[in-house]
Amino acid sequence: MSKSPNVIFQKATVTRLRREIQNGHKSINIWFTGLSGSGKSTLAHAVEERLHVMGCRTYVFDGDNVRHGLCSDLDFSRSDRAENLRRIAEMVKLFLDAGIISLTAFISPLEEDRKKVKEIIGPDDLIEIYCNCPIEVCEKRDVKGLYKKARMGIIKNYTGISSPYEPPENPDIELFTHRQSEDECLEIIVGELIERGIILKPEVS
Ligand code: ADX
Repeated sequence: MSKSPNVIFQKATVTRLRREIQNGHKSINIWFTGLSGSGKSTLAHAVEERLHVMGCRTYVFDGDNVRHGLCSDLDFSRSDRAENLRRIAEMVKLFLDAGIISLTAFISPLEEDRKKVKEIIGPDDLIEIYCNCPIEVCEKRDVKGLYKKARMGIIKNYTGISSPYEPPENPDIELFTHRQSEDECLEIIVGELIERGIILKPEVS
């Protein structure tokens, strides 16, 4: 609910459609969900790299980075995680209007919060990708050493250890990142973008 009721929406003459035509591709959000260490950020950046080389306008929002700035006032409580995702969803909405393909890598552990995200962004403007990786594998990777700290009780409310992760029931794409290669996952995602008509199929020379 807005705390500023007397604010009237300004209409831009440069619309999303005009930007999309200029860009030569449509805008969309690719929302990665999964445990910490399941490969969300790695894949988001790999897809971005591929799209960038193809001439697309892209941007990656990464949980760890955003929590240093835009969401630095939030912790990992139930309500702050919801607020974290609400802010990102609103940001994504602006990026859709700006004609950009945004890629978001957030644990986004709860179905209820992901549902709200979809409501804000709009279900047709979001591709939900579930990076399905067993907790044992994520914990073994422990790139940031945080699982270890969570097991020791130094970090509270750690997703998968002391805070729940609810797998999405009906994701657009499910990737098994412990047994599918990065390249394989990349092809699936780029294939989906072509299939949906977001980007054009590259011509083979
Ligand atoms: S979310 O739950 O609100 O979607 P987000 O993706 O922004 O989480 O942040 C997750 C990142 O924060 C993890 O990759 C991890 O590096 C770090 N982190 C620090 N504390 C926690 C915690 N208690 N639970 C999960 N991740 C944490």
